[in-house]
Amino acid sequence: MSTSTSDSRHSKQPAIARQTQANVLTADEPPPAASAVGIAVPAAGEPSTSLGLNRQRLALAGFTAEPGSTLVIPQQKGPTLVAVGVGTADQLDSGRIRDAAAAFARAVPSQTELAFSLEGLDSVPTEAAAQAVVEGMLLARYEYSGKRERKSEPIESITVVANAAAQAAVQAGAERGRVFAKATIMARDLGNTPHSHLDAMKLADRALELGSAQGLEVEIFDKEALQQLRCGGLLSVNAGSTAPPCMIKIVYRPQRGSTGSMAIVGKGVMYDSGGISLKPSDPVHARMKNDMSGAGAVLAAIAELGELDCSTTVTGYLMCTDNMPSGSAMALGDVFATHGGKTVEVFDTDAEGRLVMCDALELAAEEQHDAIIDIATLTGSCARALGGDIAGLFGNDAALIGQVEAAAAATDELVWQLPLHRPYREILDSDVADLRNCGPVGQPDAIAAALFLSAFVGETPWAHIDIAGTAWNEKDRLWRRVGCSGFGARLLLELAMGFRPSGSRARH
Ligand code: BES
Ligand code: MN
Ligand code: ZN
Repeated sequence: MSTSTSDSRHSKQPAIARQTQANVLTADEPPPAASAVGIAVPAAGEPSTSLGLNRQRLALAGFTAEPGSTLVIPQQKGPTLVAVGVGTADQLDSGRIRDAAAAFARAVPSQTELAFSLEGLDSVPTEAAAQAVVEGMLLARYEYSGKRERKSEPIESITVVANAAAQAAVQAGAERGRVFAKATIMARDLGNTPHSHLDAMKLADRALELGSAQGLEVEIFDKEALQQLRCGGLLSVNAGSTAPPCMIKIVYRPQRGSTGSMAIVGKGVMYDSGGISLKPSDPVHARMKNDMSGAGAVLAAIAELGELDCSTTVTGYLMCTDNMPSGSAMALGDVFATHGGKTVEVFDTDAEGRLVMCDALELAAEEQHDAIIDIATLTGSCARALGGDIAGLFGNDAALIGQVEAAAAATDELVWQLPLHRPYREILDSDVADLRNCGPVGQPDAIAAALFLSAFVGETPWAHIDIAGTAWNEKDRLWRRVGCSGFGARLLLELAMGFRPSGSRARH
C-alpha cells in the first residue's frame, strides 16, 4: 500500500484555477468596475427603478419576466443593465434565483465584471439568495477547461448588491456559493476529461494533490493493497484492463469536535466499455468516460469541506478502474468473493458499477460510520425512469433519506425516492453464489442494483443515489452546461454541512 499526503508531482491544472478564481464581493451598489448589472424583475408590479424603464416599456421590448428570460439594455454611459425575469412572487425560491443569475451571466457572455442585485428578492433568506446568485453565475459560465477555445469569457468578479444592513449574510452566502460552485466545476472537469487523460492512478494523483493542499488524509490502495484487502469486486472489474485499479480513501476531519461521521462511496469507472458484455457504439455509450462521475463528485465535495468549516467527519471511498474486454477480462458466469467474503456470480460484465462498490460498502460498514451514502452512474434503468433532471434515491433509513431529499431541494440537484422492494431480491438469486450481479434484460434493474448494494451495508443507515441520468447534460440550460453536470458535488456538500446522525443508531 502506498500512503502519502504530500505527493505533488503533478502541478495543479491552471485552467481549473482560472475558472474558479473569480472575486466574489458584496456592496450596497454596483461597483464602478462592473460592466453588466443583473436586475430581477418579478412577473407582476413595477420593476426596480434602477432599471430606468417601467413595465410598459419592458413589455414593448417583448420582455415578459418569464423565469429565466432576459432583456439586455445597453447604456450610453455606465454598465449594461440586464432585466432578468423571476416569475411570480409566490414561486420565488433559491432555485429561481440561481436560474435568474445564470440567465444573466449567459446574456452577457463577453462581460467579465458582473454585479447582481438582490433588490425585490427578500422573500428568500438573504444568505441562500446570495449563494444561489454566485452559483448560478459561475456554473452558467463554466466551460470545460480542456477545451481549446471558449465561447464566453471566464468571470473575473461578481458583486452581490444588497442593503448595507444585509451585508454580513450576503457575504457569507456569496462565499458559500463560490465554494459550492468550485466543487461542481471540479466535478465537471473530471467527468469531461477524456479517458485517455484520466485513468485511475491519475485520479489518485489528483486526490493526493488536493489532500496536501487542503489538509486531508489521502490513502491510495493500489492493486497489491486491494489484493491484501481481498477487494474481489474492484479487482474483477479491473481484470481486463491494462491500467491498474485503485481505491482512494480520503478523510476530512473537522478542526473542532466532530458532530457525526459519514462515509461516501463513489463509483469511479474511468471508462465503461461494458467489458465482455460489450456496449454498442451509440451516443449514450460514447460518453462512458463520465462513468466516474460519482467518484468525481465525492472528491470535489470532500475537497471543499475545510473551506466551509464542516463539523461532520467525512470519509470518501473512490473505487477506480476502467471496465475493458480482453483475454484477461472477467467472463460471464465467473464467481468471485468480495472483501467481506460474499460470493457473487457475474451475470453481465456491464453491471460493473455495483461490483466496484460492494467492497467499499463493506469496508465502510466495518468502520461503523453513522451513515453510508453512495453515488454512482449505476443504471440505464434509472435514467430511463427519471430522465436527466432527477436522480434515483434508495435507502434503508427514513431519517437519512429525508436529509438527502432536503439537501437535493436546497441545491436543485433533484432526487426522487424509488422503492427498495425486498421481494425483487429474487432477481439476484444465483445457483452458484450468494447472489448474482443482475437479472436478465427487462427486470427493474435500478431497484435490483440498489438491492444488490444493500446486501453489503449491514445495519448501517445507508442511502444510494443513482445519477446515471443526471451526470450528463445533453444541452445547455441556464446553469446546467452541456457535458458532465457535476451533479452530486453540491448535494453532498449540503448534506455533509447539515448532517445529523439518525436517532436510534447515533454513535456521537
Ligand atoms: N454505466 C452504466 C449505466 C449508465 C447507462 C450510465 C447509461 C449512464 C448512462 C452501467 O455500468 C451499466 O452498464 N448498466 C447496465 C446494467 C445492465 C447490464 C444490467 C445498464 O443499465 O444497461
Ligand atoms: Mn456498465
Ligand atoms: Zn458503468
